[in-house]
Amino acid sequence: MRDASAPASREDCQRCHTPLWSAPGAPNDEGVNCDGCHTITEVALDERAAIVERDLGSQTKYASLCDPQKVYFHRAACASLYEQSLLCAGCHRWYAEAADGAGEPLPVFTTYDEWRESAYPERGISCQTCHMSSWSGEAARGWARRDGLSSHEFIGDRVAMLAEAIMLDAVVAPAEDPDAQVIEVKLTNVGAGHALPAGLPGRRLRLRVSTLDGEGRVLARRELQYGRALVDEQGAPAAFIRARAVADDQRLYPESPRLERLEFTGDERGARARVELEFLELDPAIEAALELAPVAPQLIARSELALDGRRRGRAR
Ligand code: HEC
Ligand code: HEC
Ligand code: HEC
Ligand code: HEC
Repeated sequence: MRDASAPASREDCQRCHTPLWSAPGAPNDEGVNCDGCHTITEVALDERAAIVERDLGSQTKYASLCDPQKVYFHRAACASLYEQSLLCAGCHRWYAEAADGAGEPLPVFTTYDEWRESAYPERGISCQTCHMSSWSGEAARGWARRDGLSSHEFIGDRVAMLAEAIMLDAVVAPAEDPDAQVIEVKLTNVGAGHALPAGLPGRRLRLRVSTLDGEGRVLARRELQYGRALVDEQGAPAAFIRARAVADDQRLYPESPRLERLEFTGDERGARARVELEFLELDPAIEAALELAPVAPQLIARSELALDGRRRGRAR
């Protein structure tokens, strides 16, 4: 049913989350299971998403392996689509329609488009290169070992991946005001083929810069958030299903360094500065709006700087 206040119908959700919900003969309500991907024969981009064609009748599993061993329980066919980012666009590209049918489509998942606009396609680096790394082993239990299989652990270790993908460089910079301490932080997305944080629009990265006294007590703290902020009709932060517009996009795009300058004056001045980068599953403003219990942030990187007098220092 289409609720006038919701930008998407349930059907809109199912085509990516339970892609086989309407499979003729064998509908199923599972999430993205093997057949959710391995029945795809074609993906074509349209204006707001992608049209995914599936072969649901012939019991054929498609993948990039062109010499699969024959088995009696399913057929196998190879399709170069499985080596291409386009396959992922099937579900990782979505601009939701505005509820009233008017207005700009709302960007929800733009991972594929960001990848396409980055330098990664030219370098021959696809989603699979980073998210389905190559390994050697059995493609199915009891089968002969072979090389060039692809990891299916899509989630991976998020914290470790983010720590490697974002370069954090903090220095004590000269201040015009002799009574101020200035910390300069440079953040660069060097390892992801799309903006970070990726995926759900509610995800955030948070930079925290604190000054500490000689005993390690926090004197002052500045916080900056990186994410794509969606807002509802009233302009309040909203989850994507209630959102109407993009208010701001502060995500870290591939290889475009972000320079932040944080100034501490008077009593805020300390003996040391601590610089931390955290990952948040959901923007605290949206958590509050939805009355959800806050999820603890995950630490991605931390560095400390000495703020001895007014001299310059560098992160170690
Ligand atoms: C999100 C999509 C997706 C899902 C879900 C998925 N696969 Fe795959 N699978 C792929 C892609 C893409 C490749 C080819 C990767 C490449 O060539 O870089 C692949 C390759 C394979 C291959 C060929 C050997 C190899 O490793 O390259 C087998 C076998 C396979 N998948 C089995 C499975 C099984 C079994 C499941 C369920 C447990 C599953 N897949 C779930 C996307 C998926
Ligand atoms: C049939 C739809 C579909 C296709 C095709 C697909 N995905 Fe996904 N993917 C999803 C959904 C839905 C989720 C969210 C996980 C969940 O909660 O079920 C997801 C989650 C992910 C995640 C983890 C995100 C998280 O929140 O933990 C990664 C990484 C990912 N996909 C990468 C890929 C890559 C790479 C490809 C192409 C090889 C691909 N996906 C193809 C539907 C798809
Ligand atoms: C150059 C390597 C690289 C390429 C290319 C790349 N990614 Fe990523 N991706 C990353 C890294 C690193 C992260 C951060 C780790 C994380 O958030 O889990 C990430 C995060 C993600 C996430 C969020 C996972 C989460 O934890 O919520 C999704 C979804 C995703 N990528 C999908 C894709 C898709 C789809 C493509 C292709 C259009 C792609 N990626 C291309 C490296 C890459
Ligand atoms: C175009 C495909 C697509 C459509 C349509 C879609 N989603 Fe998703 N959804 C995804 C992908 C891909 C992810 C994982 C992205 C990530 O976490 O980085 C996801 C993640 C989610 C998550 C977080 C799951 C988790 O494990 O953290 C929720 C909740 C969600 N979607 C709800 C919905 C709802 C509700 C709708 C319908 C209004 C919807 N989605 C429509 C592709 C889609």
